[in-house]
Amino acid sequence: MQTIIEPFRIKSVEPIRMTTHQEREAILKAAHYNLFALSAEDVLIDLLTDSGTGAMSSEQWAAVMRGDESYAGSASWGRFEAAVKATFGFEFVIPTHQGRAAERILFSVMCKEGDVVPNNTHFDTTRANVEYQGARAVDLVIPEGKVPEAIHPFKGNMDTGALEELIAEVGTERIPLIMITITNNSMGGQPVSMANIREVAAIAHEHGIPFYFDACRFAENAFFIKLREEGYEDSSVREIVTEMFAFADGCTMSAKKDGLANIGGFLCTNDAALAQQEKDLLILTEGFPTYGGLAGRDLEAIAVGLEEVLHEDYLEYRLASTRYLGEHIARQGVPIVQPPGGHAIYIDARAMLPHIPPLQFPGQALACELYLEAGIRSTEIGSVMFGKTEPDSGEELPADMELVRLAIPRRAYTQSHVDYVVEAIINVFERRQDIRGLKLTWQAPYLRHFTARFEQV
Ligand code: F0G
Repeated sequence: MQTIIEPFRIKSVEPIRMTTHQEREAILKAAHYNLFALSAEDVLIDLLTDSGTGAMSSEQWAAVMRGDESYAGSASWGRFEAAVKATFGFEFVIPTHQGRAAERILFSVMCKEGDVVPNNTHFDTTRANVEYQGARAVDLVIPEGKVPEAIHPFKGNMDTGALEELIAEVGTERIPLIMITITNNSMGGQPVSMANIREVAAIAHEHGIPFYFDACRFAENAFFIKLREEGYEDSSVREIVTEMFAFADGCTMSAKKDGLANIGGFLCTNDAALAQQEKDLLILTEGFPTYGGLAGRDLEAIAVGLEEVLHEDYLEYRLASTRYLGEHIARQGVPIVQPPGGHAIYIDARAMLPHIPPLQFPGQALACELYLEAGIRSTEIGSVMFGKTEPDSGEELPADMELVRLAIPRRAYTQSHVDYVVEAIINVFERRQDIRGLKLTWQAPYLRHFTARFEQV
């Protein structure tokens, strides 16, 4: 059979509310053209994020009922720890309420003022947590990774030449760890090859530097390796994951992505002394080391999710449904980051709306237009999120790219939902000349994209 279907049937449904174009105009205006300010009830298809927004399986809901809410040493912790160890193979597991809590603990313990942390591309919370320690976050993705239309099977790879140069320039003593984000979310959900992982780990270990994964979308990355890397076509995804993580000394993880859960995360290491320091911090801010800010039922849902996410029929459907969206809009001429990533499609708003200057926020304008057209919520990843104000002159500087991310929640929408999204994007694309830019009317000093206000130019 050629048709790839959703490998599940639906047992429980959640109604979504239809709105009219006229209603959405008023709603958007009241939200000051910022989609974060919308009430989720006013959104028809929510592609804001794939984080914590997926559907749990009947097995996960059954496990939720087994949640043991004992403060210390609960049976749920035992099942969670066993599942994390079976999947990733690390010796010490530290549970956290989500990914960024694992990042904060890791970087507090490992980084100090003046340190440098290389990554293929830091996710924004990862960068912020590195910088909060006074360290510098350096992105070293391969050059193809920065060109939206460039085709490369592993566009998330780290530039190993640039890594060697950085190590030579700053010295090993100032690099507390080297990280690779799988898949590379900030640059289009692009995967990293096993060859690149092997090479980066070898460079790290040759210099005595620990090598870590930001593992959020590890299963999607592993399936890309199976599909695209020579020698892995006959390996199981579980074997690929085992091989990938054997190269690493630890990882951070947001279970809201490939943990198939609505909340949760963890930090892993093989270093006993480090694990002790991390647990001390954990107790201070997250909770006792056998729950780390999570309920026993959350631990159970993650334990089952980590097993289900490696089912190959699930992963085949997952990557196929994202690719389906990307291919159907690209075929009509919509410029996207190529090739389609694992969890999201990124529209290149700069290429689509060349008549809107970067500082009139073409990505934000496009995201608003998709909402008006069809009630679809997406996110701008461009000059609203990453634009900067020059400290001396006060001049506004645009971001490198103006993207709109359509992130697909796991197991939540069907193919007809995706067809609806395709139709809406094509409608907007056909009248793209009429789309107007936006003007910032208010912004917060940090992370302005969450609360900024706009009006139409
Ligand atoms: N690392 C990556 C690569 C991520 O994509 C995220 C979250 C985190 C770390 C932080 O995890 O949210 O559990 O604290 N990404 C979400 C997104 C928010 O929409 O891409 P968290």
